[in-house]
Amino acid sequence: MAHAWSSVVAIVSGLGACACGSTAERARPSPQDAVERRVEEWLAELTLEEKVEQMHGSGFAPVDDLYGTAENARLGIPSFWMVDGPRGVRAGRATTFPVGIARGATWDVDLEREIGEAMGRETAAKGGNVLLAPTINVLRHPRWGRAQETYGEDPAHLGALGVAFVEGVQRHVLASAKHFAANSIENTRLSVSVELDERALREIYTPHFERVVRDANVASVMSAYNRVNGEYCAENEVLLRTLLKDGWGFDGFVESDWLAGTRSTVGSALGGLDIEMPVSNHYGFRLVAAVQAGEVPEATIDDSVRRILRRKLQYSLDTPAARDPAVVESAPHVELARRAAREGIVLLRNVGGALPLDRAAIGRLAVVGRLADVPRLGDEGSSNAQPTRAVSPLAGIVAGAGGISVESFLTSAPSSAELDSISGADAAVVVIALEPDDEGEKLPGGGGDRSSLALPAEDVALLQAVSARQPRTLVVLEAGGPVLTEPWISGTAAVLMAWYPGMEGGHALAEILFGDHAPSGRLPAVFPVQEADLPPFDATSDQVTYGLLHGQAWLDARGTEAAFPLGFGLGYSTIRYDAIGLDGSSIAADGSLTASVTVTNTGARAQAEVVQLYASVVESAIERAPVRLVGFARVELAPGEAATVEIPLRGRDLAYWDAAAQAFVLEPAGIVLSAGPSAAERPVSAAVTPR
Ligand code: GLC
Repeated sequence: MAHAWSSVVAIVSGLGACACGSTAERARPSPQDAVERRVEEWLAELTLEEKVEQMHGSGFAPVDDLYGTAENARLGIPSFWMVDGPRGVRAGRATTFPVGIARGATWDVDLEREIGEAMGRETAAKGGNVLLAPTINVLRHPRWGRAQETYGEDPAHLGALGVAFVEGVQRHVLASAKHFAANSIENTRLSVSVELDERALREIYTPHFERVVRDANVASVMSAYNRVNGEYCAENEVLLRTLLKDGWGFDGFVESDWLAGTRSTVGSALGGLDIEMPVSNHYGFRLVAAVQAGEVPEATIDDSVRRILRRKLQYSLDTPAARDPAVVESAPHVELARRAAREGIVLLRNVGGALPLDRAAIGRLAVVGRLADVPRLGDEGSSNAQPTRAVSPLAGIVAGAGGISVESFLTSAPSSAELDSISGADAAVVVIALEPDDEGEKLPGGGGDRSSLALPAEDVALLQAVSARQPRTLVVLEAGGPVLTEPWISGTAAVLMAWYPGMEGGHALAEILFGDHAPSGRLPAVFPVQEADLPPFDATSDQVTYGLLHGQAWLDARGTEAAFPLGFGLGYSTIRYDAIGLDGSSIAADGSLTASVTVTNTGARAQAEVVQLYASVVESAIERAPVRLVGFARVELAPGEAATVEIPLRGRDLAYWDAAAQAFVLEPAGIVLSAGPSAAERPVSAAVTPR
């Protein structure tokens, strides 16, 4: 476990031995009790007003794009300086990575840890000390406007990537896992109440938050705007105290989402909110008065302030980070962005080996689409990091084309003559991209939930027009989540899902198109044949009910085939699943096993494979997903190479929440573990019994 201690310096006597974020050799971290002693010393010195001053932001307007909280100059207590976001530091220019769901499609936890570290380093370089990321909300339905920000639909997958990202960030600054919890509708986000029972809450909508608390010691958590079972998240005692603080042992702080993220003074303080951001509408003098009136015990304030001071000391915030502007958009960080874009691209279709393109065999390549020369980085909400430069699909293709003649048609409606030219090319790349008005964080100027999973009609018409005449139509999709492919896909030769691929997206796309690298992305969320195959998406009501099933599990429970299942992705080689072995034949709810899966690259090209491990309970007596992802491992294979990957399995991930016992328990039923390249293809399996 990459505990905060292992990589940051703590205070010994109020003097940071070395600042977070500096590249200087970090001193040996202080033991926790030195921090706790210091916390108590500070707490004993603080007046009630000073304690409450620690519990809210310093104002609506950010300073150099950073949102501050109060310092206490008298005692030398530093400020928090918070900054977004999940795809890069939203302060000035910064490395702009592919969006969260594109990184979710890499299934590469080591890469995600490196990306987290890069963002943490750039946060510190800009004077920030809290990065408001990762977004790890369950993608319950792809029409969610912020689908692009999270990693995908599955809690095990979200937890693994979230842990890795937080570990990386927290080598330099504090991370903040968001938005706790069940935040997955954008248009009604400020008021909707998500109704769910304890099983859905504990098994689906919070276990990944539990993972980042228990396994990565996340420094802070941001409460969501919405309500859960009628209570706003920032004052929801079940979420913030029963689960997060008491249940999981979280010893950091909870900050609200901005402005409407805090709805009360007394309710929020008693419910477990530690910091109101970015202002003091409800905390501040109102909270002081509530304590003085006996409505909020001062012990409650002390608990919040302890959490705040503890994190300030653990991350040595009172010694200003040695800012190193050279790390921002540094070559290694930009290369990470390129690698993430490349590994996140998912090859959905490849008829007759249309891809990769052989540069030597291509004379003329057409690149088509209104947005083909526009870098699509994502929405324009709070995660809107901006790079100094970004590479569009066309620019990347031109740069990577070698001697090929590239002709561009930057239109959704090519003329007859243009269509003739497109049809006469050796191949045509058609780039279809969604825009911030199609999906994004809900802001006064736009964004919000998608109105449909279908591509815009003009784009469908373009795809059909080109593929009717160009036999080698290669489609590149840029969107924040699954789209419908049925109406147009049959005439195409290849389809790549590139998501919003970040500042280096065009180069990464070219590397895949020309075969410099094989595609290895795997879908982090199911692509349905039609929207009706998914649970209904209600972006208007003030109350919605969530159950145990959505996405792939929803389709499986109904026997509905997906257009492309969870975990799906093609490569440029063929992988054979040879065997699965377990280091035990039984497992307890609090136990673990290791699955060993042997795979062979039977093709002629190097290929990365994401080996996925799924679990099914035989004749389950309770409602549950027919098949559930319980682990995965990514492995690079040379042509002909065989490898055995080890995938740890936790009994907890096979268990269900027994409300009567108030515990996770295993059903007295057989369990089948199966492994394969997607939720729908699991060629090897092994049985395990609960104990
Ligand atoms: C926004 C977002 C949140 C972000 C915060 C600060 O409303 O919901 O993700 O971190 O405000 O920008």
